[in-house]
Amino acid sequence: MSRAEKTAVYPGSFDPITLGHDDIVRRSLKLVDRVIVAVAETASQSKSSLFDLEERVAILERVYEDEPRVTISSFEGLLVDFARTSAAPIIIRGLRAVSDFEYEFQMALMNRSLWPQIEVIFMTPDNRYTFLSSSLVREVARLKGDVTAFVPPIVLEAMVARIGPSVAGG
Ligand code: PNS
Repeated sequence: MSRAEKTAVYPGSFDPITLGHDDIVRRSLKLVDRVIVAVAETASQSKSSLFDLEERVAILERVYEDEPRVTISSFEGLLVDFARTSAAPIIIRGLRAVSDFEYEFQMALMNRSLWPQIEVIFMTPDNRYTFLSSSLVREVARLKGDVTAFVPPIVLEAMVARIGPSVAGG
């Protein structure tokens, strides 16, 4: 019996994508056929940004260039509207710790009020990554720390170009 392809959207700021995010993307591919990694435009305009929206999309495209089941997109406006027009009725979100839960639970219920057909799947990353966040990676990098262990090699390359060799331990 054939079944319809399942597409999920994995939304976020991804400034930058970390190994924790990447772990969630790759785990998601065990559950669904396709994952759209979707960078929110509204989340890309803060003063503390490292990469702008176009740069984040370009970096993500390089990270997943060998994975045809992952596509990269940006979106503005409501996530549920993007999910609906992309025929992706599943949202994937990572949960690292209990502290993430309240905000994620609220967002999930709001998203489902806005579009009742949406399902939200919470996934936990490998425990090596439970402390990781993009904001901590940015802070460590800005303070000249080595972030090699926290981001995919393509991201490290882009961070060296933006910040300098210290981010790669140089
Ligand atoms: O990586 P982040 O910052 O945790 O991602 C948060 C994001 C982008 C998923 C969230 O802010 C979002 O969905 N923004 C799109 C606007 C929207 O739909 N807001 C209502 C959410 S209940």
